[in-house]
Amino acid sequence: MKIPLANPARELNKIKNFESKFNKKLKNGLYVGGKDVLTFEENVANYIGSKYCVTVNSGTDALLLSLMALGIKKGDKVMVPSFTFFATIEVVMHLGAVPVFVEINKETYTFDIDDFKKKVNKTIKAVIPVHLFGNNSNIEIIKNICNKYNLKIIEDVAQAFGSGTKNNRKLGSIGDMGAFSFFPSKTLGGIGDGGCIVTNNLSQYKKILKLRNHGQGKNYEHEFVGINSRLDSLNAFVLNEKLSIFQEIKKSRNDFYNFYINNLSHLEWINLPTKENENIILNYFTITVSPLIRNKLLSYLNQHQIGASIYYKKPIHLQKAVLDKYERVSLKKTEEISKSIISLPFYSFPEDEELDYLVTKIKKFK
Ligand SMILES: Cc1ncc(COP(=O)(O)O)c(C=O)c1O
Repeated sequence: MKIPLANPARELNKIKNFESKFNKKLKNGLYVGGKDVLTFEENVANYIGSKYCVTVNSGTDALLLSLMALGIKKGDKVMVPSFTFFATIEVVMHLGAVPVFVEINKETYTFDIDDFKKKVNKTIKAVIPVHLFGNNSNIEIIKNICNKYNLKIIEDVAQAFGSGTKNNRKLGSIGDMGAFSFFPSKTLGGIGDGGCIVTNNLSQYKKILKLRNHGQGKNYEHEFVGINSRLDSLNAFVLNEKLSIFQEIKKSRNDFYNFYINNLSHLEWINLPTKENENIILNYFTITVSPLIRNKLLSYLNQHQIGASIYYKKPIHLQKAVLDKYERVSLKKTEEISKSIISLPFYSFPEDEELDYLVTKIKKFK
């Protein structure tokens, strides 16, 4: 049996009359912009609890445009984790700003608050907490610290659509901006690249609308240099449909999470993931094992057609692109975790046979 790491197409089966509705959209000939994009922006803003939402072409663009809107420029320091996807740091480097790497904690693989407090100071301009794997990067504590230093916060919610804090404020709605990705494998995944920015600030919202459209306010009037970053109309249509069944998606992911916990917790060689609170929806199911067996476990699972994978093998502060530009820093916990981490298949609406196959094979390892 072949089990993929993620299975975004599975969700399409749950949408009523999906194929006929999609065909109708396909044949109407409107592929960029239009009502579906505007409706999706409104729906996301409502769901997340932010005043405004601007869709863009990817999560990477969402981060880049957020930094641009906040005026982050050459030489500005931005606090980031090193344990994340490269895009989080790449956008900082694109603008000539300087990443200040912060350690992560071993429970949720997000900012270590003690290290954050050590490194924060008045020379920092912005902070990008990454809600990795769907967990809360202690956003409320980070926000309190940032308020004292007047720092801007861009939440990287690429992997955390729908996750909330203990009081069920949605992640992405707490910082100055929240940057989401709708890459197909994400909790809310589209049929191609996509992303969005949410904010409560009207002037930032207006600025991002222009930034994503070549700096244009009126057509062919370019007030500043922007980029071209739009969500395709068909993608917006599918994302709207998936958002309308998001409660089911959320429940199914939570059931999958509980299934793993109930069936694997007796295995003393696996450390299972924890959710910071019950409003978290995980995007990845990430375990840690001894570094001595991690690669063996990965090969074993892959040999049995189980799409396990490693997020992230090499932290960003050790990547060539970063070492070529900045002095090497030491992040002991980050480096340790990257050697013991492994993500197991995790998606909505798994079949019973898939679940049984997964835990049977995992239990037989060792
Ligand atoms: C934490 C994180 N940030 C940013 C991104 C970038 O999103 P996208 O692939 O949509 O550009 C990703 C995507 O994988 C991500 O996981």
